[in-house]
Amino acid sequence: MACESLGIDADEAVPSRLVVRHIGQSLVKAMELAKQGGGPAAAQLVACECVVHAETKDHANWELLGKVAQAASGPVGQALKDAHDKVEKDEDHHLYHTKGWCRELWIESLGMPAVLPPPEEVKQVETAIGASRAEQQRSKML
Ligand SMILES: [Fe+2]
Repeated sequence: MACESLGIDADEAVPSRLVVRHIGQSLVKAMELAKQGGGPAAAQLVACECVVHAETKDHANWELLGKVAQAASGPVGQALKDAHDKVEKDEDHHLYHTKGWCRELWIESLGMPAVLPPPEEVKQVETAIGASRAEQQRSKML
């Protein structure tokens, strides 16, 4: 929708899309490799890390888009602000929750008591501060 209002062809084959596709395919390949050789627990950890990689970049992209939206004015600025307002909170949620899952699954795999589902999930955090607070409370949630 934002692309349409900005006159951008979202399906145009630009070089940056090839890089993003390559990274995505590499993450899938990593998960397939882990599934073949390391057992289900290791495969789950690799999958979780791949999701954290993807969500970290996703989050960074939306953060940057928010900065551009703040700097832009007129219809372009409004289109970017609208897109950012619709998606940014979801991207926070994706990143903080997947990081929490990954941390706790790793802790469990190392033989230590884990909080599953992770504090970020239980407390339904939506912000970096909330995620930090949730992580700090994890020892009380064991
Ligand atoms: Fe995301």
